Amino acid sequence: MTSGVIQPTDIREVAVIGLGLMGSGIAELVARSGRRVDAIEIDRSFLDQGMARLRASLDKAVSRGKLTDAARDEILARIRPTDDVAAGVADADLVIEAIPERMELKKALFDQLDEACRADTILATNTSSLSITEIAGGTRYGARVAGMHFFNPAPVMKLVEVISTVLTPPEIAETLALLSSDLGKTPVQVSDRAGFVVNALLFPYLNHAIRLLETAQATREDIDKAATAGLGLPMGPLTLLDLVGLDTDLAILETLQAEFGGSRYAPAPLLRKLCDARLFGRKSGRGFYDYRRPSTLTAPAEDHGRAPVPAEVALIREDGRLDELASQITATGIRVAPQPSDETGLVIVAADPRHRVLDAALAAGHPADVVGVHFVESGNRKPGLAELVLPDITAAGTAAKAAALAARIGLDAVITRDRPGFLTETLAYAQFNDAVRMFQDGYASPADIDTAMMLGCGYPRGPLQMLDEVGAARVVSVLEAMHAATGDPAFTPVPLLAEYAAAGTRFRN
Ligand code: CAA
Ligand code: NAD
Repeated sequence: MTSGVIQPTDIREVAVIGLGLMGSGIAELVARSGRRVDAIEIDRSFLDQGMARLRASLDKAVSRGKLTDAARDEILARIRPTDDVAAGVADADLVIEAIPERMELKKALFDQLDEACRADTILATNTSSLSITEIAGGTRYGARVAGMHFFNPAPVMKLVEVISTVLTPPEIAETLALLSSDLGKTPVQVSDRAGFVVNALLFPYLNHAIRLLETAQATREDIDKAATAGLGLPMGPLTLLDLVGLDTDLAILETLQAEFGGSRYAPAPLLRKLCDARLFGRKSGRGFYDYRRPSTLTAPAEDHGRAPVPAEVALIREDGRLDELASQITATGIRVAPQPSDETGLVIVAADPRHRVLDAALAAGHPADVVGVHFVESGNRKPGLAELVLPDITAAGTAAKAAALAARIGLDAVITRDRPGFLTETLAYAQFNDAVRMFQDGYASPADIDTAMMLGCGYPRGPLQMLDEVGAARVVSVLEAMHAATGDPAFTPVPLLAEYAAAGTRFRN
């Protein structure tokens, strides 16, 4: 067995098992660092596919001028592809397992590793959520098993979660953290708990997005746009689910549900249906989007922009909130009236994510023509994304008219049904609540939570920093409105969030 911290320079040969989405990226990363890599797959055809993916990634780097032909060839020369696990791991200083997210497969493989590896080889698993303690407990030398959790795409995302079990001596975790840094990543060290930091926060949010799609709150494109244009995230949740792979997404949510319970983790039925249909996302050609026909990636479900723009709109202002919008509309030659009349094609009211637009629509007297407008506060971007909110009683053509108006005046907009939190805040604030719960449970500090989400998922700012910007009191009030409307206890503000809101305290200084 190992003793003391092994320095990264002493890890010269690494076996990567499973050359799928993650394994091929990890093998590339390790080979780029100058180490020898045994790239191991279950059979020849998967080996060829994995190596083709790895080569394509290196070729792309060459074509972008980031790598020379000679450097690519040297990297490839350090990789030994094989479908023989025992031979592949025999001389490895470290094994990184990246086979599918199924406990029975992982356990069977670790049984093989018990026989085939040297006793001092460190065994790391890239599992997204499974119990590393259970994997370690089933092996002969459980102390050498730990988690080394990379993020997709592995060559790009900067985070590695290094996960210790109760059996892991600190030296092993330290060695893996040092190695992660040597590979150009930032390690965050955590203990073994389902989903670790990132997936325990990311997956309930992704699941929430599927439920919004499933309950027709908005189109898939608008749900994704709420996250990118509204929150500034690099990818929308449905696009990200497709990138990770829907089979993996489902497996992760099942593990989280078993550990934590509750509606945030129970996989949305639509996710299960897509998996049953073997639509696994980008890797199988189709998931929430269809990657075989690129035109379907961006085309909106309905082309609202082509509906006629009304000649007159009524704009019911409150506290000057829509003054700027009124000027923008007037500037395009559309008449703006202070109250609806028979001439009015559309009635615009200021929408607040804590209150139903329906009530304002009824008060306005022309409920079928009403659209609520809510501008998402998004950092320095002015104006932020506009959420066009439609109560269910509006006329069929109102959405199209509102979208046409938005297109005419150059407003970046999404269309959503009239539910508390609308699109952007419902997605974001439920995740902020989860992040506070993680801190409240003593699992990770606010700084570590923010770092993990920024480096693992490309967030521009961490969830707790974003929460501070909005203010805990505001987040609590939107969550309470979401809870009141749905009755779902998952939206109840966690006690620590309610305390911080009452005291006006920030999570980050
Ligand atoms: N492999 C290698 N490199 C890749 C790549 C891939 N699959 N995809 C993109 N890149 C590289 C590009 O070559 C480019 O590199 P250079 O800047 O050196 O030229 C760089 O990444 C940026 O790529 P693009 O300009 O093409 O694309 P982008 O700016 O839209 O960024 C992205 C793409 C990095 C994926 C970005 O959209 C992003 O950060 N998305 C969020 C991804 C995320 O959240 N990942 C975590 C998922 S959860 C997880 O992984 C854990 C789990 O257990 C499931
Ligand atoms: P994948 O399905 O793309 O690839 C898994 C590969 O493992 C396949 O090519 C398969 O042929 C191979 N395989 C299966 N059994 C094997 C065995 N016994 N020996 C050798 N190879 C075997 O899966 P993935 O998305 O790369 O995920 C792999 C692991 O990484 C999972 O535990 C997953 O949860 C985790 N992970 C995935 C992501 C992601 O975004 N997809 C991110 C981080 C971690």
